[in-house]
Amino acid sequence: MNIKVEKNVLLSAHTTLKVGGVADFFVQVDSVEELVEALQFASENNETPLILGGGSNILASDEGFCGLIIKNCIKGLSYTVHGDNVYLYCGSGEVLDEVVADAVSKNYWGLENLSSIPGTVGATPVQNVGAYGVEVSSLITEVSAINSETKEIKNFSNKECDFSYRDSFFKTSEGKKWMITEVVFKLSLIKKPQLDYGTLKTLETLGAVSIDDIRNEIIKIRSVKFPNWHKVGTAGSFFKNPVVSKEVFSDLQAKFPGIQGYPAGETMTKIPLGWVLDNVCNLRGFCMDGVCLYREQALVLVNESAKDAKVIEKFANYVAEVVKEKTGINIEREVTSV
Ligand code: EPU
Repeated sequence: MNIKVEKNVLLSAHTTLKVGGVADFFVQVDSVEELVEALQFASENNETPLILGGGSNILASDEGFCGLIIKNCIKGLSYTVHGDNVYLYCGSGEVLDEVVADAVSKNYWGLENLSSIPGTVGATPVQNVGAYGVEVSSLITEVSAINSETKEIKNFSNKECDFSYRDSFFKTSEGKKWMITEVVFKLSLIKKPQLDYGTLKTLETLGAVSIDDIRNEIIKIRSVKFPNWHKVGTAGSFFKNPVVSKEVFSDLQAKFPGIQGYPAGETMTKIPLGWVLDNVCNLRGFCMDGVCLYREQALVLVNESAKDAKVIEKFANYVAEVVKEKTGINIEREVTSV
């Protein structure tokens, strides 16, 4: 066996929120072969396996994890060009921002709006990562994964991934059995700036923008809106933007003039929760027991000094209660609890 299984590893050291108790077993895998070995170890020892990428979207409980945490470091990056299309084959353990930087340096269009997002490539299909008008669902052509129970290897088409806003097949109970090993993105040699998203519109007025301009602008915006991951605990947006019916949205508009909404399908409207937390609930910058809503972007939860997940749980529940009380909306978390 090539893999080195460790015992009793603290999850707080492997999640960007910097909380979480002890995992019974922990292993890092650097290849698909090692992932298979790790899954065999889990079956033989009757341990539940759980794959972890950058740990940037996880709220790990204080009780820890009774099973085997598999830290995914499966690397690999290659491109094939077909006409104007460039197919990027990417190991799921690659760091997303390094992949974006590489594609941008080669002038391959598609991923630039996803600059500066923490985490690994394997996590992107799971929650259909998106920012500044681009979701990975518009770029992914295929996802390879291995079934943790049967060890079957399967390639999922874009359709089979069943993507929606911050959601996919891989978040369902059946989908959770599949561990992603490779993601294929379809990029383009043709210049395709996507500048529709509010804050990017300023770039449009500048005329000819290069792919580097877009990446640099997004890095700049994010450095203001998001805290430094190396200094404080955070998982980016902690909650999803709620999607409500058009009727509910008109009622909210009557009550809170200025509330924004974006069409989500034929009948629904997506509301920026950051705006609601800030302007309706007055919670931007609010802190309790060392946990805060970031003063520059209220949707971002910041763990300044809490050592326990239960402190974050209490804080998040309180925020959800205030939103419910003020607007009637039940908000959902974007982060995954383990
Ligand atoms: N707003 C406020 N006050 C705040 C925060 C936001 O008024 O404190 C307003 C903004 O001015 C803006 C609107 O709310 O008009 C939306 O804010 P923003 O553009 O920052 O985007 P968001 O909806 O809060 C989403 C994603 C982010 C992504 C950004 C940019 C979700 C849950 N979050 O945030 O994704 O980076 O758009 O595209 O969809 C993540 O998923 O972890 C994440 C960071």
